[in-house]
Amino acid sequence: MLNCLNSWPEPVTRVQHLSETGIRVIPDRYVKKPSDRPTFLQQAAAASQIDIPVVDMQGLWSGDAEIRRRTASLIDGACREWGFFQVVNHGVSHELMGRTRETWREFFKLPLEMKQRYANEPSTYEGYGSRLGVEKGISLDWSDYFFFHYLPIGIRDENKWPTQPDSCRQLMGEYSRQVVELCGKLMNIFSTNLGLKEDYLQKAFGEDLGACMRVNYYPKCPQPDLTLGLSAHSDPGGMTILFPDENVSGLQVRYGDNWVTVKPIPNAFIVNLGDQLQVLSNAIYKSVEHRVIVNSEKERVSLALFYNPKGEMVIKPAEQLVTAEQPPLYQPTTFNEYRLYMRTKGPSGKSQVESLESTK
Ligand code: OGA
Ligand code: NI
Repeated sequence: MLNCLNSWPEPVTRVQHLSETGIRVIPDRYVKKPSDRPTFLQQAAAASQIDIPVVDMQGLWSGDAEIRRRTASLIDGACREWGFFQVVNHGVSHELMGRTRETWREFFKLPLEMKQRYANEPSTYEGYGSRLGVEKGISLDWSDYFFFHYLPIGIRDENKWPTQPDSCRQLMGEYSRQVVELCGKLMNIFSTNLGLKEDYLQKAFGEDLGACMRVNYYPKCPQPDLTLGLSAHSDPGGMTILFPDENVSGLQVRYGDNWVTVKPIPNAFIVNLGDQLQVLSNAIYKSVEHRVIVNSEKERVSLALFYNPKGEMVIKPAEQLVTAEQPPLYQPTTFNEYRLYMRTKGPSGKSQVESLESTK
């Protein structure tokens, strides 16, 4: 399987470029089957007012024990029911967040030839990319991205980060550092909420854990009802901290049979649990399917930082969460092995974590 990850199976089309040519009809490769289109059975969800929970993280450090308890419990409920929540007062500088996102907007405005210098290969995905999944003929999504590693430090290669705009490298370093710190705090809270030792999850991820970022760019689309910016998937890693575009919504989260469109709060992050936390918690916590819709009016930029176990760590349900009534639901796997699936097939709903389910 590794060999097929060395190069893309067909020429890569930049979606931004396609969008800028002014086409009125999108190529077939981007047209989703009817049941995957944004318009399929969306009346109920569109009419509902439900949204993912919002957590004020300051409550976790309140002098009032009752506020601390309520805040932790709100996070616990969100992890069980939604696998998603927004956080405010999260400790990351708002000014830094804004500048980092602006830098990336500027990056995507650079001429195509400049961005092409960073064109990526599927062996590491680092750089400027336009597809997830290396299998020939897979359905394509209406987005481009820039991907890079931040941790472990041994695989960080700042030479692969953009030199333009000027401030990009420095901002990315600082942004990633602050967001990784936030992830550490959340991991401790998740552990405690699950009744585990405070550092249980962090230890399960390993000392040399991973953090990588994908900056997603969703260009305007002339036929947004036929395609998706990012097909339905759950994130394969530990947790994702998403900084969405404040001007344009697009992220949808599955809630039962509905897709709920998240309304971003200015300066908030969207936190979502990935498959590894579902496995470690023996499915007490859920990694929930989500997808991105596009529109014909505005492009959208989002920054996703993925916080992952060290590649060689074997991830399996925590022993304390395995009981006679709740046997281990998943087979042990390393994250390196697990990650190959998404990198081969691209986003495929929740089929991957389901494939790990122990046979009963
Ligand atoms: C992702 C993702 C959502 C978004 O990058 O995995 O789900 O809003 N992104 O861009
Ligand atoms: Ni995702």
